[in-house]
Amino acid sequence: MPSVTRAGLALVLILGPAGVRAQSPPPPAAAASAVGAETCATCHEDLAKQFTRSLHGAIAAFETRTEHGKCEACHGAGSLHADSGDATLIRSFKDATSSDANQTCLACHRQDHAMEWAGSMHASSGVGCTSCHTIHQSRQVAQKLTTADGLAISHATAPAFKGSLSKSQPELCFDCHKEQRMQFMQSSRHPVREGRMTCATCHDPHGTNLTSLKTSERPNDLCISCHASKAGPFVFEHAPVQESCMTCHNPHGTVANNLLKQGEPFLCLQCHEMHFHSARIAPTVPAGFGNTFSNNPNGKTGFMGAFNTKCSNCHNKVHGSDLPSQGVTGGGKALTR
Ligand code: HEC
Ligand code: HEC
Ligand code: HEC
Ligand code: HEC
Ligand code: HEC
Ligand code: HEC
Ligand code: HEC
Ligand code: HEC
Ligand code: HEC
Ligand code: HEC
Repeated sequence: MPSVTRAGLALVLILGPAGVRAQSPPPPAAAASAVGAETCATCHEDLAKQFTRSLHGAIAAFETRTEHGKCEACHGAGSLHADSGDATLIRSFKDATSSDANQTCLACHRQDHAMEWAGSMHASSGVGCTSCHTIHQSRQVAQKLTTADGLAISHATAPAFKGSLSKSQPELCFDCHKEQRMQFMQSSRHPVREGRMTCATCHDPHGTNLTSLKTSERPNDLCISCHASKAGPFVFEHAPVQESCMTCHNPHGTVANNLLKQGEPFLCLQCHEMHFHSARIAPTVPAGFGNTFSNNPNGKTGFMGAFNTKCSNCHNKVHGSDLPSQGVTGGGKALTR
């Protein structure tokens, strides 16, 4: 196709025939007016009934920054749709990632929880409000909940998930975050699956901070808000602890105990050299000055066993200490007590 024709075609596509659509908004939206929730309820009876029990159903128009309080606050003015029952004449949320859908929610929520939304990782990855939230929640739940006999629980009695989520945490998050699901299956983990905390205890899914963490400061401050004993300041500090707890810990779950990224002594040996003594092979026959000194009762590798298993057996104040260790004259900062 010659390029002139293609440009002409593009122009028609953008402007529409005779460029009319560029000047005025599409006719349906312009002509529709609000009809009120009672009108919607005449055709959407079940849905309207359960909506009255939801948080959004309890909002009065004057409480919001939009023109209409109930159905039409989200679905837009609906007179054309209500007159015809034509599904294309009302805003639906079938494309959860469309920015139109998000903007609808943000019309009211931009001021509070979703203030930072635009810059969040979820927003920039095409995850929308309705990827996680559902407004007509009881109905959604009812599709999934069944009694022991396999009977569906009715709309009326199905419970709503906290925060109008479409699923409870952590399952909601695990659906997309497989790696974290795997981490939380490990033997050492934060008690999220046990229900003692949620992903949202540490993360703000709408936030923009470092990995969307619920702290305006350093990640350490988040950890310290619960693990206060690790806060310091200490007289004898351990540099990597001051830098970031995540130097040694994975916040979600690990194979090694205590959420450690690696077991001891390997964890420590990544940064520290082996102890001088741990490389010492003890003679198994009495030798040297007096029998006792070098005759290690634990055999040749006794020193290795003592020093190269769990460093924190001796350096038990690995997060910092206020007491001098003084195992060696002039020493004192070895975090042993
Ligand atoms: C005269 C009956 C009638 C009234 C009144 C009515 N609707 Fe509907 N609505 C329908 C029908 C029919 C459908 C199509 C259902 C289907 O395709 O399963 C529908 C579909 C919808 C959909 C889904 C659109 C889609 O793309 O699937 C939404 C959202 C909706 N209505 C909202 C409303 C709202 C909000 C009101 C009040 C302003 C309202 N309706 C009033 C009959 C009505
Ligand atoms: C706070 C925003 C909001 C309000 C208020 C609201 N809806 Fe919805 N509606 C949604 C969203 C989002 C969806 C997409 C499905 C979901 O998340 O539950 C939806 C879906 C629908 C659908 C399509 C259901 C389907 O499964 O295809 C209908 C019909 C509907 N709403 C009607 C209504 C009616 C009637 C009212 C008032 C009684 C109402 N909505 C109030 C946000 C809203
Ligand atoms: C007309 C204004 C308005 C619109 C539009 C609106 N909301 Fe709300 N929403 C509110 C108000 C008011 C509350 C209750 C006060 C609060 O928590 O901020 C609320 C509460 C919520 C809550 C907390 C619910 C709970 O059970 O704790 C969620 C989640 C939510 N809205 C999500 C959404 C989503 C998603 C959309 C878009 C589909 C949306 N809202 C559209 C006004 C609105
Ligand atoms: C990745 C999932 C996810 C997305 C996307 C998401 N939210 Fe949320 N939202 C949550 C979770 C989790 C909570 C906390 C629920 C709880 O109370 O445990 C929440 C809570 C809320 C609350 C209630 C806050 C409160 O303190 O009770 C509102 C309002 C809300 N979200 C609005 C929105 C809006 C608007 C959008 C889109 C701009 C959105 N959310 C997108 C997961 C999400
Ligand atoms: C105890 C607090 C805490 C809890 C609970 C928690 N996280 Fe995290 N999460 C973090 C921290 C801290 C980071 C940053 C890790 C880093 O910087 O190395 C993070 C990072 C992430 C990341 C970014 C990728 C990565 O691993 O660095 C994702 C995705 C994530 N978390 C998802 C989740 C999900 C999903 C849940 C719930 C199942 C959850 N988190 C529960 C603290 C937590
Ligand atoms: C619909 C899929 C989806 C759901 C549901 C979802 N996420 Fe995400 N999340 C993503 C995508 C996509 C990213 C972008 C980065 C990536 O691919 O990991 C992301 C990124 C993140 C990050 C990293 C943010 C950063 O700044 O680096 C965190 C933390 C996170 N999600 C937490 C959560 C939590 C907590 C929940 C549950 C409340 C949740 N997510 C639910 C898709 C999802
Ligand atoms: C909301 C409070 C809270 C926050 C924030 C928190 N934790 Fe925890 N942490 C807990 C709880 C509860 C346990 C489980 C204790 C138990 O089982 O007795 C735990 C356990 C641990 C454990 C021991 C795990 C085990 O196997 O026993 C480590 C290590 C840990 N947290 C590190 C961190 C780090 C690092 C951070 C920051 C990313 C952090 N925590 C943030 C509450 C929290
Ligand atoms: C240099 C590596 C390292 C860093 C950095 C580190 N830890 Fe630890 N942490 C450990 C080791 C090793 C253990 C296990 C100690 C043991 O077995 O006695 C541990 C255990 C823990 C425990 C569980 C046992 C207890 O003492 O309560 C918590 C909670 C904990 N760390 C929190 C933190 C927090 C919070 C930070 C950041 C302020 C942090 N850790 C930084 C190495 C580290
Ligand atoms: C990410 C690197 C890193 C890891 C992992 C690490 N450390 Fe350290 N450690 C340091 C740094 C840096 C210093 C400060 C050294 C200095 O000031 O000369 C330090 C200091 C020490 C000191 C004080 C000695 C001195 O001369 O100041 C002891 C004892 C110590 N670490 C033990 C441990 C133990 C035990 C582990 C494992 C649980 C461990 N470290 C893991 C980096 C690390
Ligand atoms: C049997 C007890 C014991 C074990 C196990 C042990 N240490 Fe030590 N460590 C000490 C003593 C005692 C000192 C000297 C204390 C002083 O200077 O006051 C020391 C000193 C240190 C120092 C300070 C620098 C130096 O060489 O003087 C570092 C770093 C250190 N140890 C790292 C480790 C690491 C890494 C491990 C595990 C591979 C480990 N230690 C295992 C007892 C132990």
